[in-house]
Amino acid sequence: MPLQIRRGAGVFLETQDGRKILDAISSWWVNIHGHSHPAIAAAIGEQAARLEHVLFAGFSHEPAEELAARLGKIVPAALRHIFFSDDGSTAVEVALKMALQYWSNCGRPEKNKIVALEHGYHGDTVGAMSVSDDSPFTAAFAPLRIPVLRTHSAYCAHCPVGLTRATCRIECLNKLEQLLIESGHEIAAVIVEPLLQGAGGMIVHPEEFLAGVRRLTAAHDVLLIADEVLTGFGRTGKMFACERAGIAPDFMCVAKGLTGGFLSLAATLTTDRVHDAFTGNDQARAFFHGHSYTANPIACAAANATLRIFDSEPVFERIAAIESVHRAQLPAFALHPCVADARHIGTVAAIELKVPDAGYLSSLRPKLYEFYLDRGVLLRPLGNIVYILPPYVITPEQLKGVYDTIRDSLALAAN
Ligand SMILES: Cc1ncc(COP(=O)(O)O)c(C=O)c1O
Repeated sequence: MPLQIRRGAGVFLETQDGRKILDAISSWWVNIHGHSHPAIAAAIGEQAARLEHVLFAGFSHEPAEELAARLGKIVPAALRHIFFSDDGSTAVEVALKMALQYWSNCGRPEKNKIVALEHGYHGDTVGAMSVSDDSPFTAAFAPLRIPVLRTHSAYCAHCPVGLTRATCRIECLNKLEQLLIESGHEIAAVIVEPLLQGAGGMIVHPEEFLAGVRRLTAAHDVLLIADEVLTGFGRTGKMFACERAGIAPDFMCVAKGLTGGFLSLAATLTTDRVHDAFTGNDQARAFFHGHSYTANPIACAAANATLRIFDSEPVFERIAAIESVHRAQLPAFALHPCVADARHIGTVAAIELKVPDAGYLSSLRPKLYEFYLDRGVLLRPLGNIVYILPPYVITPEQLKGVYDTIRDSLALAAN
């Protein structure tokens, strides 16, 4: 039976019978400033009373214009054009479709293949599911998935080329380089989750890996799609993960935290180069893609309020405080006999447990989930990987409490 939730405030959810649950995974990674933040709630109310919705074709409105301008100030400067959609999956679909049509509009329709990473996850719609790696999420839909070329992820705890991070020179990139040398003339784009692969296991990549992907794609004239749906808006310690690696992609997909976790809204940002290939008098060059609720004014107002909070509250101080708790707590976990790896980036920490049936369907997962809920903590392990991904308003004491709960749960992994 699903738990009935009647209220949310800060890091807490409250069940119908009055029990408090600490939301340590930001309700599937969307919440950043805490549940029911009053400034976002007020912005939604005001906007709903003024203009609830208008089609976004031949029409525009102030909340969307403001949001485009706000995003323009925080994304890499080259990403000057924005295309709104509904959620993370549709932001990815837009990037994939635009990448293919870009090459077609440029008279190079043979550049139509996509490269994606092992362990990647980009959403549940057909295109996004195709670029995601094979998993229990995709198994039943094999006939629907378009073929993609797959390259290594920088999963250092299980290095795909058998090296160790302390001495390697990011040799996991060699496979991508080879693919680009052999087939670059047929490849439209490479898609990555920059620095942090979420649903695939909270896998943290070295910054050099992302920088290398950018270097290689630029050298082989292949577009780079950075799926920042999870990593955007401070999750990895900077506003965007791309910033940490000092790169600018050709497309950036954002969603989840964009509205602070209040409403579904997404955007795909891109460059002049891509944008200009879609302009001109020939109608066939247009990007024929639109959703009924594209750039919904209420969702845009929620996003504007969410971004304003970055200016009005000490958000990056909170993020730094979370990261220092992760840094202090994880080394002890790494030494525990049941732990295979303990890693973190920014606000996200992951503890990979040793089990005989590793993977999303590990039999340990439901036991851990129930254990945590009984202790009043919402943690939803990815199989044998327990991760913490809290709203930024969690206090260091609350976060230490989450770690205490996880420490107590390790006995389950030992049995
Ligand atoms: C990196 C990434 N991309 C895309 C998505 C899909 O987003 P949505 O669930 O909003 O469609 C997710 C969702 O978890 C994600 O983590």
